[in-house]
Amino acid sequence: MTGPVIRPRRLRTTQALRRMVAETSLEARQLVLPVFVREGIDAPVPISSMPGVVQHTRSSLLAAVSEAAELGLGGVMLFGIPAAKDAVGSGALAADGILNVAIADVVAEVGDALTVMSDLCLDEFTDHGHCGVLTDDGRVDNDRTLELYAEMARVHAEAGVHMVGPSGMMDGQVSVVRSALDGIGHTDVSILAYSAKYASAFYGPFREAVDSSLQGDRRTYQQDGANAVEGVREALLDVEQGADLVMVKPALAYLDVVRRVRDAVDVPVAAYNISGEYSMLEAAAAHGWIDREPAILETLTSIRRAGADVILTYWAAEAARLLAP
Ligand code: PBG
Repeated sequence: MTGPVIRPRRLRTTQALRRMVAETSLEARQLVLPVFVREGIDAPVPISSMPGVVQHTRSSLLAAVSEAAELGLGGVMLFGIPAAKDAVGSGALAADGILNVAIADVVAEVGDALTVMSDLCLDEFTDHGHCGVLTDDGRVDNDRTLELYAEMARVHAEAGVHMVGPSGMMDGQVSVVRSALDGIGHTDVSILAYSAKYASAFYGPFREAVDSSLQGDRRTYQQDGANAVEGVREALLDVEQGADLVMVKPALAYLDVVRRVRDAVDVPVAAYNISGEYSMLEAAAAHGWIDREPAILETLTSIRRAGADVILTYWAAEAARLLAP
């Protein structure tokens, strides 16, 4: 009996050959590290549901971002946790608010060596934990929230941010942010739109990370996990409104949406490998149930293969170290 003539295994023979024909790359420049900075603490506070991730002090944040720059990461995404929260998220707009001072600190530290990005959303600053302000009957008020997002964009730009990430899923948020930035001459500040952002159970650990007091859920404004066509629609609307990059979030349960969005738009696509995705793998690895480092790289490669040009991931620095030659 003669064997098969066509043998795909031939291309898997050596590491050098596999490397040569690999379809998907994973590089430090494609990774963005999300970081948390908390007001009023004098030492970093571990986040118990995200082993290895902390709430930074203003100074420990600087060490983390300079390491990110040395590793050649694409950028950092800053989240601020204020000492006090209120119904309208005042801490988000105050010039001395934690996120705004952290943006200035980070830009002073790393300059243009990293893309400095900021979360443009109210949920870290509101005592009810929603991404916007509420109407008298407790619904999230889209249009009043947009006015606050516009102001937040101006404050972040004045602090020196390179890219803002509107993440609240208010309709029209990208165009409002774009005109607010342009209105004060910050035409170079770019927008990473959280376009297809799904109401997800996998955000759980993030709620601890930002000390969120959210009751209930975000299903009236974040997307229904049943819908992929709608995710593409959201991305197309954001491109029309001036988004420089569009994002799909979460990543792993929505890899099909990442692919569809990649095929539909002509701007870079990002995907957010979120807190619950991080914690699941870390927990399994801590039990010795999976081999942690290969599992991290396989996860990130799957998100790239689905079509993401950029990945926000809590493993960004570690992955960059693993990938270093
Ligand atoms: C909203 C925001 C959230 C995350 C990033 N930006 C939380 C939410 O929408 O509920 C989640 C990120 C993660 O889970 O890692 N500001």
